[in-house]
Amino acid sequence: MANPPFLFLFLLLNLAAAARRAGADGSDPCAGRRIHIRHLPPRFNTDLLRHCGADAFPLTDPSAAATSAPPCESLANHGLGPRTHPRSRSWYRTDPRLLEPFFHRRILERGCLADDPARADAVFVPYYAALDALPYVLDPALLDASARHGAELAAFLARDQPRILSRRHGHDHFLVVSGSAWDYAQPPDTEPRLWGTTSLLRLPELANVTFLTVESRIWPWQEHAIPHPTSFHPATLPHLRAWLARARRSRRATLMLFTGGVSRPSRPNIRGSILAECANRTDACAVVDCSGGKCSHDPGRYMRAMLGAKFCLEPPGDTPTRRSTFDAIIAGCVPVFFEDLAARRQYGWHLPPARFDEFSVHIPKESVVFGGVGIAETLEAVPEAEVRRMRKRVLEMAPRVLYRRHGSAAELREAGKDAVDLAVDGVLRRIRRRTRAQEEGRPESIYTMEDDSLEM
Ligand SMILES: *[C@@H]1O[C@H](CO)[C@@H](O)[C@H](O)[C@H]1NC(C)=O
Ligand SMILES: *[C@@H]1O[C@H](CO)[C@@H](O)[C@H](O)[C@H]1NC(C)=O
Repeated sequence: MANPPFLFLFLLLNLAAAARRAGADGSDPCAGRRIHIRHLPPRFNTDLLRHCGADAFPLTDPSAAATSAPPCESLANHGLGPRTHPRSRSWYRTDPRLLEPFFHRRILERGCLADDPARADAVFVPYYAALDALPYVLDPALLDASARHGAELAAFLARDQPRILSRRHGHDHFLVVSGSAWDYAQPPDTEPRLWGTTSLLRLPELANVTFLTVESRIWPWQEHAIPHPTSFHPATLPHLRAWLARARRSRRATLMLFTGGVSRPSRPNIRGSILAECANRTDACAVVDCSGGKCSHDPGRYMRAMLGAKFCLEPPGDTPTRRSTFDAIIAGCVPVFFEDLAARRQYGWHLPPARFDEFSVHIPKESVVFGGVGIAETLEAVPEAEVRRMRKRVLEMAPRVLYRRHGSAAELREAGKDAVDLAVDGVLRRIRRRTRAQEEGRPESIYTMEDDSLEM
């Protein structure tokens, strides 16, 4: 009975019962904010927690380092993972692919839940999509079937109490996918099927459902980006404040830091330029080698370095965004972006696009790779007072992008909204706008993307 998936299921069921009781009062503060959680058979969520550990997919090519199942230890603490060490209070070995069970847990404890879907303003589908994708991306025998990822869920939603989905044509449904939207958007008719990606976002039956992903595509009418999870999950206000004070006071002797893969790319690109410049400017630049997944479950490896750096370089990798952006924000290390898709055009619900210049630096990647612009030189030119101002703003943003621990103290919950709270606010705004457009017979405005401007 020490088996994590079972323990997890047990806790979830208990919690669901508690949440139903709590949401039953139905008073004013919940107006416009009621969420119904779809009851799904366990094969769509808790059963999928068995997709962990090295022996879950024995046929996986072991030489492909990035492709493996999350370690089973990562299931601890509802997907936050084990604590980094026994005395750690806020730091966990979080595997970002387990955001789905964690988000589910947070929705369950949220309050303003509606048992009756007809009274709900939005419907949350607790499907563990990235975990369900693992067989298609890790089992060679299933590669050719990867266009079917999610088809069973779509069939279930259409068949089980069909009115819930059809009432608003699915526009009021949302779910979380702990991955990049690009990885779930392979055209279903691609031949041969591409490794590592599925076609979940291309399922016509789910076309109107909002997907919360850690990275969105260029025209994200279907999805919206939410922060990559970091390893910092405080549960009380003093823990949060103690960390922010430490980050504020930290002595920062390094001008700029790059954490990531250190193999030089064969073609000129921004990552290559950064590595070349850092090799030359050891006085100004530090590099933390995170290749081969060395950093994934070991925040100590890079957080200390981030606390000691003024600027953190956040170049695109295989895709435009990276978890390291959020590690940097939490460390008070001012992020340096090389394209708008890295964050500004992604996380509008959490990081106000109009204020990016107050807490980050933008250096267009073309100017570095082809224009001879030096990154260190550019950053050295920022006056110290301005660096301090930016750091203050970054640390003001930190509580908005971190994922507070489940079951946090009321005092912390009331002090401000975290990544989950803001994601839920955002998705409720988007759904409200879409349902209104539907009710008022303006279907053309359903897919406009104006919901990023947030009053702050
Ligand atoms: C998606 O929404 C549009 C507009 O409301 C509707 O016509 C269409 O049938 C919906 N599609 C699905 C699969 O529900
Ligand atoms: C590194 O330094 C050498 C010698 O100063 C210089 O010729 C070279 O252009 C520098 N490379 C980069 C990438 O800055």
